[in-house]
Amino acid sequence: MVKEVLVGLNCRPGHLYVDGTVGEGGHAAAILDRTAPDGELWGLDQDLAVLQTATARLAHHTSRFRLYNFSYTQIGNILEEEGQPGLDGILLDLGLSSQQLQQSRRGFSFMGDEPLDMRFNPQEGETAAHLLNTWPVAALERIFWEYGEEPRARKLAHLVAQIRRRTPFSTTQQLVRVINQALGPGRRSRGRLHPATRVFQALRIAVNRELEQLDAFLSQAPAWLLPGGRLVIISYHSLEDRQVKQRLAAWEKAGVMRRLTRKPLTPTAAEVARNPRARSAKLRTAEKIS
Ligand SMILES: C[S@@+](CC[C@H](N)C(=O)[O-])C[C@H]1O[C@@H](n2cnc3c(N)ncnc32)[C@H](O)[C@@H]1O
Repeated sequence: MVKEVLVGLNCRPGHLYVDGTVGEGGHAAAILDRTAPDGELWGLDQDLAVLQTATARLAHHTSRFRLYNFSYTQIGNILEEEGQPGLDGILLDLGLSSQQLQQSRRGFSFMGDEPLDMRFNPQEGETAAHLLNTWPVAALERIFWEYGEEPRARKLAHLVAQIRRRTPFSTTQQLVRVINQALGPGRRSRGRLHPATRVFQALRIAVNRELEQLDAFLSQAPAWLLPGGRLVIISYHSLEDRQVKQRLAAWEKAGVMRRLTRKPLTPTAAEVARNPRARSAKLRTAEKIS
């Protein structure tokens, strides 16, 4: 949704934008192109490996960008250190990048056999394996149900607890086998998504505390924007989109931000055909009131 992001951020030369989830730098490259010759971009990502990809991709823009291995919740610290009063736009494109899914070998995908890690920043927090091996059954059931929208969350959580007593979880294929056992072959053939997609998503959200991070960001974001500054958020999960939608409505009511999208923008059929992972994307935009 590159075009929608550029319009949403109202990208112009001479202004300063933050891509809080810079990933491999796709949106960042488009922002730098649109804001040439003197617009600036700060890109943040928790994952040092994807930041290295972004560095190479953006290198030709030389001095117009800086990359930080920080969470987007820490934008305020960078503003303070740089002595900047505020930003003209902030982008968040939530979730995980293609590189993380396909190449990180941190267990984001259920297709290969990899260590069950799933941390965006492998230096911080506990792995997915640790969570599966130590969390109480009720907590596992809650994340499978709430974050994965898995109807048989209870059955799966109980089976995980039973199996981990004999063999602690360490690899993705171990988990895939348990998912197949709990959810059965019949279920797998129905619907568009393999059940492992939802369960893996649930674990990733829990491991990276993604909803808590988004909430912490939303509590601070208006203060980081200059008057007229724009906020664009692309979410891929109904719980994320609900958080964003509710915050935007509350800010508008309080006279802090104005919503520019009443209904979220969604990708075109052509974009989904090119990139099936975009199918659940919802983009919302707001502007700080002058
Ligand atoms: C969907 S990708 C972004 C792709 C990027 N927009 C592009 O065009 O290449 C999401 C990225 O957000 C990062 N991320 C997730 N949570 C984060 C957080 N709290 N702070 C900073 N980065 C985060 C992930 O590591 C991942 O690289």
